[in-house]
Amino acid sequence: MPGPQTNSHDCAVLGIETSCDETAAAVVTSGREVLANIVLSQLDDHRPYGGVVPEIAARAHVEQLDGIIARAMAEAGLDFTELDAIAATAGPGLVGGVMVGLVTAKAIAAAARRPLIAVNHLEGHALSARLVAEVEFPFLCLLLSGGHCQLLVALGVGRYRRLGGTIDDAVGEAFDKTAKLLGLGYPGGPALERAAAEGRACYDLPRPMLGRENCDFSFSGLKTAVRHLVEGLGAGAPDGLSPGQVADVAASFQAAVSDVLADRTARAIEVLLREHGGGTLVVAGGVAANAAIRGRLEQVAAQHGIAMVAPPPALCTDNGAMIAWAGVERLALGLCDPLDVAARARWPLDAAAVS
Ligand code: KG4
Ligand code: ZN
Repeated sequence: MPGPQTNSHDCAVLGIETSCDETAAAVVTSGREVLANIVLSQLDDHRPYGGVVPEIAARAHVEQLDGIIARAMAEAGLDFTELDAIAATAGPGLVGGVMVGLVTAKAIAAAARRPLIAVNHLEGHALSARLVAEVEFPFLCLLLSGGHCQLLVALGVGRYRRLGGTIDDAVGEAFDKTAKLLGLGYPGGPALERAAAEGRACYDLPRPMLGRENCDFSFSGLKTAVRHLVEGLGAGAPDGLSPGQVADVAASFQAAVSDVLADRTARAIEVLLREHGGGTLVVAGGVAANAAIRGRLEQVAAQHGIAMVAPPPALCTDNGAMIAWAGVERLALGLCDPLDVAARARWPLDAAAVS
């Protein structure tokens, strides 16, 4: 029997996300209803270390996940046997945390006799746009997260063609490291965006890979240039940079990143238009929560005559709803997994097409 809040023809899927420092569970229907979406951030656990500590993350997932799932199920008004499937991130990510979520999903699936769906976290980000809007395949996906920065053509569920990616740091990593350098604390991305809003992009920073024929990115040179800039500015000041200088460096960094993302994405849109004659630009992952970057990419899409879709910020950063939705999409195609499916620290999205 369907639960009280779902239509009788809708499927309901529980999604579990534990691949990094968010313990998350959500229930989503095939009718695009998010019945519950609970995200518990472990920020306070990791803040003293200035970054995510894998062992602390895994232990926190063990302690919190059961309670988060119970809250999500209560909010959705369903019990486990009313679900149509259980989806969990099976990789890529910090493998200790991934195992916690995947093992929990297996236990629920076995007890409730429901199918298990092992979701690639990156596919969760990529498909999240289809949870919030009518986005047809093929679409171009710019994936901007803490561990990944890639441009892919999404041809269908489980079918991705990688056009390019970062040759060194991921874009979120560049935000986090630059924020740390500027003393903006952890997590760096949102703090840097707030600081940048108060500053002017008045410092000249490099735009790595601009104008290249391919669709690759590079951010480590930009990070080094910011470090040299900060060392130069701070040299004469006993207390380091003034708040105004911090804001200006943040704004200059964000402008350089925006220019690089705009240029690389424009190149990829040209490939999309040439090979598929049209499509949508989807921007996903934690850095897609950045309003300045979203605005800039919207302009690029408009210049090429295509639409851009980015999920609302709460669905850009890691969450269970995107995993549940990927589960809905895979369930519709009968793409379920055996109970002995393994957690994977590495799992390239374009290899998912092969497997
Ligand atoms: O997708 P996500 O939540 O986790 C991963 O799968 O990595 O992305 C996290 C990354 C972090 O590097 C974080 O600093 C960055 O996304 N981020 C942002 C913003 N919000 C989160 N970067 C720039 N501006 C933001 N507003
Ligand atoms: Zn993510």
